[in-house]
Order: sequence, then C-alpha cells, then structure tokens
Amino acid sequence: MVSKRAQRKIEHIQHALSTGQQRSNGLDDVTFVHQSLPNLSVDDINLSSNVGELSLSSPLFINAMTGGGGEDTVIINEALAKAAAETKIAVAVGSQMSAIKDSSERPSYEIMRKVNSKGIILANLGSEATVDQAKTAIDMIEANALQIHINVVQELVMPEGDRDFTNAIKRIENIVKNVKVPVIVKEVGFGMNREVASHLAEIGVSAIDVGGFGGTNFSKIENMRREQVLSYFNSWGISTAASIAEVKHGQHDMSIIGSGGIQHSLDVAKAIGLGASAVGVAGYFLKIFIEKGYDELVQEIKQIHTDLTYIMTALGVKTIKGLQEAPLVISGNTHHWLNERGIE
Ligand code: FNR
Repeated sequence: MVSKRAQRKIEHIQHALSTGQQRSNGLDDVTFVHQSLPNLSVDDINLSSNVGELSLSSPLFINAMTGGGGEDTVIINEALAKAAAETKIAVAVGSQMSAIKDSSERPSYEIMRKVNSKGIILANLGSEATVDQAKTAIDMIEANALQIHINVVQELVMPEGDRDFTNAIKRIENIVKNVKVPVIVKEVGFGMNREVASHLAEIGVSAIDVGGFGGTNFSKIENMRREQVLSYFNSWGISTAASIAEVKHGQHDMSIIGSGGIQHSLDVAKAIGLGASAVGVAGYFLKIFIEKGYDELVQEIKQIHTDLTYIMTALGVKTIKGLQEAPLVISGNTHHWLNERGIE
C-alpha cells in the first residue's frame, strides 16, 4: 500500500520531470569579462568553499528532493546520497515531516546517512516545524545543518496546502536559537528578495538558499495534478540571478546559496560570480538519475567540477572567493530588475 503522502511524492517526481526542467533563471543575462592573461595553471584551482560554519570541498551540492515512504523514494535517496559521497559534495534530504509524523517512513531518510557516513548531509523541514521537530530531523540523519524551506506559493496552489502563514519568522528564530547546527532558509523556486533576507539575517540564520524562479516550477507541477488551476502563479517569482543579486545587495554576513534551474557549470560559475558561496541543483540531477541512471549522475557531477575548473582558469581566479569577485556584466531583464530595485 502506498500512503497518500508517498503517492503525492511520486506524482511530484513524475510532474517535475514531465513539465521539463526549465532553464529561465536569468543567468543568461550574466556575462563574465574575459581575461586574456590569467596568470595561473589549471592545477592551482581550489574548489573548496564555506557556507556559514560548514566547510565544503565543492560549492556544488544536491538540493532537497524526495522524502516520504515508498520504495521509489528509498531508491532515489540512496542513489543521491551515494553519488554525493562518491563525488565529495553535500546533499540535502527531502522534507522529513512525514517521518516525524510516521516513523515507518524513517528508513527512506536514514538510508542517506547509512550510505554516506562521513559526508555533509542537510536535514530539511518546512517553516511550520517546532524546535522539537527540528531536533528530531537533525538527529535522524546526524545532519551537519538544517534547511528550513519556505514555499507559500506551492502551498497556495495545492487545495490541501496551508493557508495560514503567520509567525513563520518566529518559529524559524526559535529553531535557530535552539539547535546546534547551522540553519539555512530556502525557497523552492519562487526566489527571495532582499527584505526577506534582512529579516532572516536579523534572527541569526547562517545562509539563504534563494531557490530562484527559472527551474523546477511547483506552480506548474501542482497545477498539472488537478482540474482547477491557479495558473497565474505559473510565471510568478524572482529569477535566480536577480534573487542572488538582491540578497547580496543587503551585504549581510550570511552566506548565499544560488539555486533554481541550474543545469551546467557555467550557471554554477555565474551564480558564484553574483555572490553565492554554494550552488544547489535539484530537478536536473533527479532527471539525469531517473532517465539515465546512477553512473551518468556521477559522471555529470564530475564533469561540472572539471568544467568549473576550466572556467575559473579562463577567468584567472584560483578560489571560490576569487570567482565571487570576478568582473561581470549584467544585461537584459536582470539588469532592468536590478535597476528598478535600486541595486547596482
Ligand atoms: C523538491 N524541492 C524540495 N525542497 C525542499 O526544501 N523540501 C522538499 O521536500 C523538496 N522536495 C522536492 C521534490 C522534488 C521532486 C523536486 C524536483 C524538488 C525543491 C528543491 O530543493 C529546489 O528548491 C527547487 O526544485 C528548485 O531547484 P531546481 O530543481 O530548479 O534545481
């Protein structure tokens, strides 16, 4: 028997893949200024990065996806965690709320720590979570950090979704103050603005994952599952490029994570160029695993690392910090957005 929640997860995956992975994240508006005399060798490049207190050997990570019970989610989670271990990148689990409410669903999360005993694994819950639930989620997988997702539009598009979004910031603050690991607040594909980033910085959040518009589109995914659609949310959100620039403009101590429609090494480089310290990929990696298998997924991650090394060589930057400072030009809609918002 597949539970209702597990069934919803499977439908999510099918729709996430069948709506296609968009790539309209604004990063095509970003161009690096070419450097003809980079005074370094490919061997000088160091991909290590820091997100808050977390030390990462690569800025790339696999972002939160499937949670909940069912054989499919166990297979997917095991593969994602193994691929992360093999390529030495971090991986986030999908929302653990289902396993907190129903302990029979725990194995599909615990498998990730089992097959990736030493790597960086991020726990994941929604902003409705309590401090106790956050602690349970962290302990369940011995997490190195906790992601709290905020997904108002996704909830609104679901008939069974939440309708009350009051006091989320207070609950997040409470969690930040009472858990022992860094807290990352993430969107899920609708982007983040600088005002929200400021609120989150004030309450001590370690990092913001902008979860920008332009990749996996939960409005389209949810709308596909039913007859009555809220199609006006299908093109709603702040692009990944504009979101990173928005949050960067606030100049907080917080780290920025770029995500939303990332599909190749140049996008990873551009997200970092705009100010991100790490870059999350969800739908694109899931699509590769489901359609082509585990080996292709590992190959793709390795290829992105190789390509990122070449891009950094061409730009003459040895470190992720150097890449964050590489000169770039912003054009098109992203330029227009930033201009209108008073962001240089
Ligand atoms: C997600 N995402 C997600 N995020 C989260 O915080 N908790 C979750 O449980 C899930 N579940 C989930 C399932 C599936 C099938 C997908 C494709 C995605 C959102 C994900 O982490 C990310 O924020 C968005 O998908 C945008 O990134 P991409 O997919 O455009 O790279």
